[in-house]
Amino acid sequence: MILFETQNLSKHFGGLKAVEDFSFCLERGMIYSIIGPNGAGKTTLFNCFTGLYPSTSGKIKFKDDDITGLKPHRITRLGIGRTFQNIRLFAEMTALENVMVGMFSRTHSGVIGSIIRMPGTVSEERASAKTALQLLEFVGLADKKDAWARNIAYGSQRRLEIARALATQPELLLLDEPVAGMNPSETRDLMDLILKIREKGITILLIEHDMKFVMGISDCISVLDHGVKIAEGCCNEIKSNPKVIEAYLGKDGTESGG
Ligand SMILES: Nc1ncnc2c1ncn2[C@@H]1O[C@H](COP(=O)(O)OP(=O)(O)OP(=O)(O)O)[C@@H](O)[C@H]1O
Ligand SMILES: [Mg+2]
Repeated sequence: MILFETQNLSKHFGGLKAVEDFSFCLERGMIYSIIGPNGAGKTTLFNCFTGLYPSTSGKIKFKDDDITGLKPHRITRLGIGRTFQNIRLFAEMTALENVMVGMFSRTHSGVIGSIIRMPGTVSEERASAKTALQLLEFVGLADKKDAWARNIAYGSQRRLEIARALATQPELLLLDEPVAGMNPSETRDLMDLILKIREKGITILLIEHDMKFVMGISDCISVLDHGVKIAEGCCNEIKSNPKVIEAYLGKDGTESGG
């Protein structure tokens, strides 16, 4: 069953065609990766999917809804959660509070209600704290619940961002370079975490440069180069695709980044 799809999605910044005619579909329960050299347009795609950037043309569908042009908070509410390439945590809030912020997109009273402590908010907040703690346990950070986000190690901050994204109760989770800056053992642990998230029934779309990680976890891969999808397939098809090798290594065999 198709959960998410795009049809001829394009995003231009002035004359720059950051994404051009990108079409794909994502089956429910998959782990799907988008790879490509630096500047290929991967993050731009995520920003279009989540409503941060209006797309220039094309369509985005999630379940039965056309979500093209919807605002980010509406898209979050419909069930698409994400993390960012450059971690975006509230540095001077605790780990638990950061996860609770993710939950405000779902709770009845929201951030304003919480600040002015409207009736009903206190009990709702208690329930949120309990769920937030369960999410921290799930990502392996329960012992850091009272630590300020900025005092948490980098690899753990990435897990905290995932917990916050899970707090929005996504059916589709977008992860932008989840293992960037992680050491090999953190990377292996994160792979296990992503598999555990999938077991919960959440579909995963990820952008990643770490090829060992991508090849170890993905059901399907799309390769983007200069905004254009140049290949799509399973790991073995991608590894041996001449266009992909050229995009990464250049015609003369010198590495072009990514
Ligand atoms: N807000 C913006 N305004 C103008 N140009 C942008 C903007 N965001 C991205 N771009 C440009 O769009 C192109 C694609 O950028 P994008 O960040 O999507 O690449 P990427 O594939 O995520 O690269 P990386 O692997 O380095 O993260 C780049 O040329 C970039 O400079
Ligand atoms: Mg990027």
